[in-house]
Parts: sequence; structure tokens; C-alpha cells
Amino acid sequence: MTSAMTQDELKTLVGRAALDYVQAGSIVGVGTGSTVDKFIDALGEALKADPARVAGAVSSSVRSTQRLEALGIKVLPSESVTALGVYIDGADEIDHQGNMIKGGGAALTREKIVADLAEKFVCIADESKLVQTLGKFPLPVEVIPMAAAQVIRAFAKLGGTGKVREGVTTDNGNVIVDVTGLSISAPAQFESEINQLPGVVTVGVFARNKASVCLLGTSQGVKTLSF
Ligand code: 5RP
Repeated sequence: MTSAMTQDELKTLVGRAALDYVQAGSIVGVGTGSTVDKFIDALGEALKADPARVAGAVSSSVRSTQRLEALGIKVLPSESVTALGVYIDGADEIDHQGNMIKGGGAALTREKIVADLAEKFVCIADESKLVQTLGKFPLPVEVIPMAAAQVIRAFAKLGGTGKVREGVTTDNGNVIVDVTGLSISAPAQFESEINQLPGVVTVGVFARNKASVCLLGTSQGVKTLSF
């Protein structure tokens, strides 16, 4: 492998590698984003060779549902599923303990719901996502619209600067507040604290639903981090 792999190629690499974690004939939990798109593409290829490769998927967004269905993959409502073996998703940041920031694609609430159904969260990411401490990437928080200003004021007390993401309404009809200026050294505690703010639907810190495994795309190949 050369050192000249593009970010897109690294995403393709980990998208394909994630297939190894999907049990034949199972129902797979599917996240959202450009890296997950590569996983969906790989799944589509695998299905051509073996139509029974997966029985179906539970999707975390309208975007992923459309891509899965376009490939002929059956998408089941999450309400109809009691457990999943594996959930495959990307991240905006992941630390060395498997805690993540997610929600760059505004799908964080459904992502957390589907992730919570799964026994194992397999994070697929290129190496630029690996960080020492979460917080450089603006933290997405899904908020009920009438609470947005209030939530922004609460973050200001924690040293963060929040801004409503322009032109974005989530699949659940809410807004996203992106918060900069945070350094999240205790992710689980932080996640619980933010969950208490009235009007917060989901905070983009995934500590309770952290990754079990991260397949990290590097120029040397796929590095597997287990947590
Ligand atoms: C969407 C997410 C994505 O997983 C995250 O934004 C990473 O996306 P990409 O694979 O495009 O870099 O949390 O809400």
C-alpha cells in the first residue's frame, strides 16, 4: 500500500473491512455518512455474490435507508427489532477509549437508538478521526427548536459556543446546535450532564454507546482498535 491514499480511498477500505463483522444472514444496524456509504456499497457487492449475505438492515437515517433500498436490501423499522449483533457507523472523532463525537450528518438521535440495540458497535473511520481528547470537532446536539437559545446559554456556562446549524432540520423535525470550544475529558459524565438539559434530544457524545471496535483506515492498511 502507498502513502498516497486519499481520504475517500481510506473510507472505501474500512467500509469493505466492516463486512467481516457482519454475520451471514443477519440483520445489520447501519449508520449514516460518507464512510457508511462505502460500507453500503460493499454490502451491495457482497449481495450480488451471495443474495443471502444479509437478511436486512435497520437504518439510522432516511439517507441510508434510500441507499440500502436502492440496492434491494430490506430495511426493517427499528421498533420491530429487539436486538442486533452489530451496528456499523462512522464518527467525527474517536478517542483511544472508543468514545466518539457523532452527528456531523445530523443523524445522531437515530444513530444512538440503533446503536443501543446492538451488541457491538463497529466504528469505521479514516485515521484523521482519531484524537486524544474529544472536542475539536464542533459537538452536534439535537435540540427541540424552542429550547435552542436556552441550550446555547447553558453551553456558554460550560465554556462552549453554540450555534444553530443553518438550513438543517433533522429527520425528527428538530434543530442541531453545534458547539465549539469544548475539551471533553470525561465523556460519559459529560454525556449524562448534557442529557439533563431541557430540550436536548440527543448529545453527540457517544460514551455510553461507545465503539467496541474501530476499523481505522491508514495508509498502511486497516488498523483494528478494540476497546
Ligand atoms: C452522521 C455521523 C457520521 O457518522 C459522521 O458525521 C462521520 O461521517 P463521515 O463518514 O461522512 O465522515 O455521525 O450523523
